[in-house]
Amino acid sequence: MNYYERSCKKIEELRGRNDYLILSIESSCDETAVAVVRGREVLGSVISSQIEIHKRFGGVVPEIASRNHVLAIDNIVDEVLVQAGVTLKDIDVVAVTYGAGLLGALLVGVSYAKSLAYALDVPLMAINHIKGHISANFISAPELEPPFVCLLASGGHTYILEVKAFNDMVILGETQDDAVGEAFDKVARVLGLPYPGGPQIEKLAKEGEPTYKLPRAFKGEKHLNFSYSGLKTAVINLVANTKARGEEIIPANLARSFQDEAVGVLVDNTMLALEQTGHKIVALAGGVGANTALREKLTEAGTKRGIKVLLPPRALCTDNAAMIGVACFEEIKAGMLPADLTLDADPAL
Ligand code: KG4
Ligand code: ZN
Repeated sequence: MNYYERSCKKIEELRGRNDYLILSIESSCDETAVAVVRGREVLGSVISSQIEIHKRFGGVVPEIASRNHVLAIDNIVDEVLVQAGVTLKDIDVVAVTYGAGLLGALLVGVSYAKSLAYALDVPLMAINHIKGHISANFISAPELEPPFVCLLASGGHTYILEVKAFNDMVILGETQDDAVGEAFDKVARVLGLPYPGGPQIEKLAKEGEPTYKLPRAFKGEKHLNFSYSGLKTAVINLVANTKARGEEIIPANLARSFQDEAVGVLVDNTMLALEQTGHKIVALAGGVGANTALREKLTEAGTKRGIKVLLPPRALCTDNAAMIGVACFEEIKAGMLPADLTLDADPAL
């Protein structure tokens, strides 16, 4: 039997069990993260963020991200094994994010995972980053089972998903242009705030009032899609026009007005999705899920309608490897086969 045949045989043995150890790797953007999970339980999780490195450039520089993943990954694997109280010999499966994300950044994780899986002679599982974000909910709510609606709001993606089963998800609404996190980051830049803009806008908005009127895209239309590029442009124009009149913008009020609108449309469309599907559970996911206004508004709107609202802790909303490990566990349960050693990164997955 060759390596791949042994991997397939091993996965068939593990399917249906929840007592085996998965080591998972996430390197799709500017966080190098490794975790060890058993079923939906996280035994260890280490995240090394490059935010401080990219801050001075005002955003993630792909080549610099890749280089720093290379520098960090070995030590993070060692650290997470100590945290989990296990050794490499105990690992049954290696899981890795292979897309979506930055090509060079993804390749560091994928190459590392391939060599580790081959050296340990254990199966290699290729995990979709978005399914990882959704899986954060299985960590904080281990009793959660499909069907449910998921609002996924991150720096790269904005989706309302109907999760019928882990391997049967339907996109009910998605962005037609910018992702919501991207809009937070761009508006922050217009206001002169550092990267990443989401938490900065949130902080500033706390001191402001929603005095600026900003447009809603697709108003009155009967679909659940989003457009954040128009909202971002409206903010840019508002700042430019105000300055041209020789007047001053009130940054806190603009941050608050933008956040109210950005979050409002997410919550409104999610409530429509719940109505349309009849599901009684909504799960939040993705980096923007760390936003307090979004968490509060989603909880308020859902609770009013008798919907159970699941909010993973903030650290599980932004990129981490624990969610990738648990997504791997769910994929194995749902019938996924191992990857072979030709696995490549897929930036646009
Ligand atoms: O999920 P994530 O860590 O990476 C991607 O897969 O994109 O999301 C990062 C995004 C960034 O755009 C960041 O500004 C945004 O999530 N974000 C927030 C908050 N924390 C992170 N946006 C609004 N409020 C926050 N508190
Ligand atoms: Zn992400």
